[in-house]
Amino acid sequence: MATTVTASSSVPSMRAERIGDGIVAFLPAGMQRYPTSLALVKTPTQGGSIASSWSLRPRFGSDGTGTHVTLVVPENTDLYGTGEVTGPLRRNGSAITLWNTDNFEYQLDGGRQLYQSHPWVLGVRADGTAFGVLFDSTWRAALKTGNTIEFDSSGPPMPVIVIDRLSPQLVLQGLAELTGKMPLPPRWALGYQQSRWSYTPDKRVLEIADEFRKRRIPADVIWMDIDYMDGFRVFTFDPKGFPDPEKLNRDLHARGFHSVWMIDPGVKFDPGYAIYDSGTARDVWVKDAYGKDYHGEVWPGLVSYPDFTRPQTRQWWSALYANYMAEGIDGVWNDMNEPSVFKVPSMSMPDDNWHRGGGDLAPGPHLQYHNVYGMLMTRATRDGIQAANPDKRPFVLTRANFIGGQRYAATWTGDNTSTWTDLKTSIPMSINLGLSGQPFSGADIGGFSGETTPDLWANWIAIGAFYPFSRAHTTKASQQKEPWAFGPMVENTARIAIERRYRLLPYLYTLFHRASVDGTPVMQPVFFADPRDLRLRSEQEAFLLGGDLLVVPAWAKKPALPQGIWRTISLVDHDREDAHQATLKLRGGAIVPLGRVVQNSTEESLDPLTLLVSLDSKGQARGELYEDAGDGYGYRKGDYRLTTYVAERKKDQVVLRIAETRGNRTHHQRDIVVQVVTNDGVYIGKGDEKHVVVNLRSSH
Ligand code: NOJ
Repeated sequence: MATTVTASSSVPSMRAERIGDGIVAFLPAGMQRYPTSLALVKTPTQGGSIASSWSLRPRFGSDGTGTHVTLVVPENTDLYGTGEVTGPLRRNGSAITLWNTDNFEYQLDGGRQLYQSHPWVLGVRADGTAFGVLFDSTWRAALKTGNTIEFDSSGPPMPVIVIDRLSPQLVLQGLAELTGKMPLPPRWALGYQQSRWSYTPDKRVLEIADEFRKRRIPADVIWMDIDYMDGFRVFTFDPKGFPDPEKLNRDLHARGFHSVWMIDPGVKFDPGYAIYDSGTARDVWVKDAYGKDYHGEVWPGLVSYPDFTRPQTRQWWSALYANYMAEGIDGVWNDMNEPSVFKVPSMSMPDDNWHRGGGDLAPGPHLQYHNVYGMLMTRATRDGIQAANPDKRPFVLTRANFIGGQRYAATWTGDNTSTWTDLKTSIPMSINLGLSGQPFSGADIGGFSGETTPDLWANWIAIGAFYPFSRAHTTKASQQKEPWAFGPMVENTARIAIERRYRLLPYLYTLFHRASVDGTPVMQPVFFADPRDLRLRSEQEAFLLGGDLLVVPAWAKKPALPQGIWRTISLVDHDREDAHQATLKLRGGAIVPLGRVVQNSTEESLDPLTLLVSLDSKGQARGELYEDAGDGYGYRKGDYRLTTYVAERKKDQVVLRIAETRGNRTHHQRDIVVQVVTNDGVYIGKGDEKHVVVNLRSSH
């Protein structure tokens, strides 16, 4: 039974329905059932009335041109989320425009309006309990946070969902229950990745790959930006620069690299070009207000834009990937999908362009569908890649997205600049993406636009090696920005930073597994370590990777760090002597699994498996390791292994054992190295997985 909430005279009444554990949907007056939602993974079902004590209740209003929603924020609440935009981690007092925008160098509105829209605010009360508010509307909107959360939408009244739970972590799990989780990516996508606009021709791509191997800098992926195409026509290859993409991919694979290639949405308006002709024959394009095909200008000149609201268009688009992926391409990079349009003040299509919808989606103007254009595109891209390679896990990177878009693609934060400001900004940006449901993100390491000084690049890689998505990229005319391009000192710093990431891959992959199961962010704000410690609420230089590892940038000034035991660790030789490297601290009570340094993530790296142990005040620790084939779907049928290790101090010994294993994946007998990090040094024990004893008296 739904509860009717009678609101004050100025506000229409609404219905409140309990749709989950601590989750309530507020439907505005006149809305009988929950409408089709692009944000949610499924339409919520009604679960009963809400408690009269439920305190967070939005108020709806309308002035005839749009919808206004207000929600009073409890006193002393810190606000987060709101997606990708720039600005401090703590989002109290911010004003954000939700309108996906190709915002070069974050110039427009100081980056308070970027490539993605997340109509979502996370609130953390002084006592550490938390709530989240999701405005389930795709229309252009403004989001303001202060003593109230104000959502001004240009569209009709929308459902508002409020999650109220005991901690921010539990609220994010609620968000993942509603909007879905990131599907587990292929393990190679967690490796370090190298890009520029553009490595061309194909020989240059292989030179870059060889250079990594020669210099023993681990890397997994090389990226192909738009210049591989024939005249920027999507799904084509430049016959001069990239005459045989299949061979290039084979050569990359032989060197232990994967490849990701760019596909933009705009299809060159070019009768005679097969992709344009096939789209036209199927009538897939977005229309203008008069029902004619709309043309805008992007890299290839005039283009037509697929209308991804139409199921037929999405099927057509997906099918294009069959031949494309058959070239041996491993992943796809969807760019410019806000969608970006050049040479028009609005930087996108007219608001009254027409999307025809179909299936569950009603026809509607661009004003309604703009913010989900990129998300619908990546949905079709992902489906196409999956159909082309059913036994592999798709990898899609997108620039534009919408809340819930983690279901389809990872993301990067667009065209940042090679400045200290943007290095620093990248941390709260990625954290807040994680606090908005998207765990797989990172900024262009080194900065996209502008020249990077050696010192900045060194500082950037030292931190970027810990972004969930770790890729260096740069713009067309810029200097070379590979790890070796800045001389031997920076190269050494880069090697150490990237080797640290590779040692951490087993831990990182376990965090990605966790995110794929319950939405827990990979990169977390420091306050997650203790949501009741108010000192931590604004910390935006240091961050957590999962719950156990604290990353403190070398340049962090007086970072607020959590109380309790956090022990500084070393992961590779000399990492603590290099002034650019972040300080890494392991939580007391944690066990973190480490691999060997390998040159790419598909190399065997877990023999020996190292377990880094930091005991808590009771002399105990616990940690998890998730393993599977690294690609494919065997894990869904039990071919995985989730091991829980526990360690306990007994007098002068620490005994490590397996507390639990799940899944039925087996592996050959492997050696285990246990390193117990204590305040006076690291003690090492070796053995097999079942039982390792570390003697705390022996020399170390
Ligand atoms: C814009 C993207 O943000 C950038 O990363 C890319 O290099 C250029 N488009 C060219 O494709």
